Amino acid sequence: MAYVSRRTLAIAMAAVASGFAAPALAQANYPNRPITMIIPFAAGGPTDTVGRLIAQAMGADLGQPVVVENVGGAGGTLGAQRVANARPDGYTILLHHIGMATIPTLYRRLAYDPVNGFEPLGLVTEVPMTLIARRNIEANTLADLVALIRQRGEALNYANAGIGAASHLCGLLLMKAVDTRMTTVPYRGTGPAMNDLVGGTVDLMCDQTTNTTEQIRAGTVRAFAVTTPERIGALPDLPTSAQGGLPGFEVSVWHGLYAPRGTPAPIVERLNQALLKALQDPGIAQRFADLGTAPVPVARATPAIHREFWMADIAKWRPLIQAAGQFAD
Ligand code: MLT
Repeated sequence: MAYVSRRTLAIAMAAVASGFAAPALAQANYPNRPITMIIPFAAGGPTDTVGRLIAQAMGADLGQPVVVENVGGAGGTLGAQRVANARPDGYTILLHHIGMATIPTLYRRLAYDPVNGFEPLGLVTEVPMTLIARRNIEANTLADLVALIRQRGEALNYANAGIGAASHLCGLLLMKAVDTRMTTVPYRGTGPAMNDLVGGTVDLMCDQTTNTTEQIRAGTVRAFAVTTPERIGALPDLPTSAQGGLPGFEVSVWHGLYAPRGTPAPIVERLNQALLKALQDPGIAQRFADLGTAPVPVARATPAIHREFWMADIAKWRPLIQAAGQFAD
């Protein structure tokens, strides 16, 4: 029999007697090693950009690195699955976006529970989207582009990050607004899709300003509209979709942070505190502003408000997705 010291034995007996002393000890020491933040899309894209900024600031507050790992593919479901099925100990967290509200309706079968598999930790940002095309596209205005889509239909390639991505949702809304289908080309994220758009091997994409603002300013892609009710400060010359002639074509992409379901409340609270710190970091606010977004006001970044907002968004998108009739099996 292995040697066990009296002290170890006493601690173990106390833990058994209290029923939860060992987990409580782990929570008191939390975090005592690096935390992994899963980004469910490829590196270099908009979710990655937001995640890396937040991860660095959260790590500084938590006293442990928050290490970003990109688990792209299947419209963000592979990364989400990894977190839903991880140990609920606070060492694996997820930064995801509006896909958390569309995936429960879009996917008939998943290897995780897309609603009950997570503890919301707080909202992070709300990001406008922009409709962009290869820079030599045969259209100068949104009206020209709509005419081109109607004329060429499936001969045009629309890049997205798979079923469940924000770029997928935006594409669904665009195709509904112009009443014409295009050929969709799925990527593991809009970071790599952007490379192909800039290279001219795909025709169109709808993507978050956190990935498109710098390309639009540099003229490497052509921009047609921002999908918000008002123009945005980062791209003041870009008309809204309504101003360009497509009034119903509107969507913004919210991001939130999650832990696996069952993560102890003190750890959820600690992660939320670190998130609130990150959201108040002036450097992050400035970088977000440069990219056409802003941190969520801290009063809205609580786990309770996040849950309420997420559930309302699932209910909002369900009928629209069902009407579009595009599901993943
Ligand atoms: C990404 O980070 O690649 C995007 O958020 C993908 C998308 O949802 O369109």
